[in-house]
Amino acid sequence: MARYVDLIYKKRFGGEHTKQEIHQIVNGVITGEMPDYQISAWLMAICINGMTLDETAFLTEEIVKSGETIDLSSLGEYVIDKHSTGGVGDKTTLVLTPLLSSTGIPIAKLSGRGLGHTGGTIDKLEAIEGLNTSIPVDKFLDQVKKYGIAVGGQTAKLAPADKTLYAIRDVTATVDSIPLIAASVVSKKIAAGSNVIILDVKYGTGAFMKTVAEAVELANTMVEVGNRLNKQITCCVTSMEQPLGCAVGHSLEVIESIETLKHKGPEDLTELCLTLGAVALTKSKMVNSIDEGKALLVKNLDNGEALKKFEDLIKAQEGDISVISDYSKFRQANIKHEFKADNDGYVLKCDALSIARACKAMGAGRDKKDDPINMAVGVVVKKKVADKVQSGETLAEIYADEDQHLQVAIDYLKQAYELTDKQPEKPVLINKMIGA
Ligand code: URA
Repeated sequence: MARYVDLIYKKRFGGEHTKQEIHQIVNGVITGEMPDYQISAWLMAICINGMTLDETAFLTEEIVKSGETIDLSSLGEYVIDKHSTGGVGDKTTLVLTPLLSSTGIPIAKLSGRGLGHTGGTIDKLEAIEGLNTSIPVDKFLDQVKKYGIAVGGQTAKLAPADKTLYAIRDVTATVDSIPLIAASVVSKKIAAGSNVIILDVKYGTGAFMKTVAEAVELANTMVEVGNRLNKQITCCVTSMEQPLGCAVGHSLEVIESIETLKHKGPEDLTELCLTLGAVALTKSKMVNSIDEGKALLVKNLDNGEALKKFEDLIKAQEGDISVISDYSKFRQANIKHEFKADNDGYVLKCDALSIARACKAMGAGRDKKDDPINMAVGVVVKKKVADKVQSGETLAEIYADEDQHLQVAIDYLKQAYELTDKQPEKPVLINKMIGA
C-alpha cells in the first residue's frame, strides 16, 4: 500500500491514479485512516491538476461502493431522479417532482441541503411546518408505492465518502472542480437507484461553473462517467446568471413553487420545469416527443393534478398542508423593504451571486455545518434582465428580520442590479441538451 503522502505527491505533479490507488484513498476517507489535512491536500491537487475520465469514473465507482445502494426496481420499470449542480432561487425540484409524479411515474428523490451560496431542496421543504425529510429507506419506498412521490434527505448510508469529501471541499475552496463535482453528483444518483437520471447543469455567476464551456465539459464528463457505470444520464445546460424565477429564500421559494404548480409561476421557472419534465417523460417512454411531454405536463398544471401531488407529498411527510392555500402559515419576516430604481432604463444585470449573498447575510444560509437557517428572509426580484424600469419602481423586495442585516442586503442588491439605456436581449435559459 502506498503512503498517502506519496499519492498526494503523485497528483500534485500531474500523475494519473490507478483504480487501486483511488480505492485506497476512498477507503482511507471512510475509515478515517486518511486524515482531513491529507484529504484536503489531495483535493486541492485535483482542483489544480484535474483528473482523467478513467480516474473520475474510478472515483465515482468507489464513492458508490463506500455505502449502500437503494434497489428501486419494485417501483416500476422507470424511476426518475433529477439533480441540479446548484443555483440561486433554484426551486425546480419542488415543482418538477409533483408535476412528474402527477403523470403516474414514480418519483424517489433524495435531495441535499444548501451548499456554499446555493440553496438546498431539503432546507426549503423544511420551511413547511412539521415536514419530515429524514425518512428511513424502507419507509421512503413505501411512501413512493403509496403516493407515487417521496423527497428525502441524503441518508448517511448512501455514498458516505461523498459526505466527508463534500464537507471538506466546502471549507477548503475545492468545490468547483469538474471531476470532483461529477463524481459527487453521479455517485449519489447511482447509489439512489433510479434509472432515468436528468441533470440540470448550471453556469453563470450563481453557479459553480462560471461559463457555458465549463458547464458543457462538466455535463460531458457526467454523461461519460454514467456510460462507463451503465447509467444513462441526460444533462440540460442552463443559465444561472440571474436567479431562477423571482424568489430567493426558503419560504419565499416554496410559495413561488406552489404558485408555479397552480400554473401562475414565473415564465423561466415554468419553462425549465416543463423542459426537464418532458425530457424525463421521453426517457421513461411515457411520451414520444418533448412537445407531447410538455402538453401532458401543462394539462396537469391546469387541472390541479400536479398541485394535488404536492399536497400528497406534504401530507405523507407530516407537513402542514394548509400552507398551500394560506401563505400566512409560513413564518413571516419582520421587515419588508422595497429596493427601488434610481433612474429609468432596462435591467442589464440582476446578478445571482450578489442576491444569494444578500440572502445569506440575512440568515438564509449557514456559515458552519449545523447553523440554523432563517426560513422567512430572502429577496423577491421584481425586475429581471431586459425588463423596462422607471425611476422609483421596485426592482426587488427584501424580507429581513433585523435592520442591520437589511442594510447589508441593500448593499448587495446595489451590486446585483445594473441598468442601461438600450434594451438588452432576453438571456437564453436552456443552452444545450447533452446525452439526450
Ligand atoms: N452538487 C453535488 O451534489 N455535489 C457537488 O459537488 C456539487 C453540486
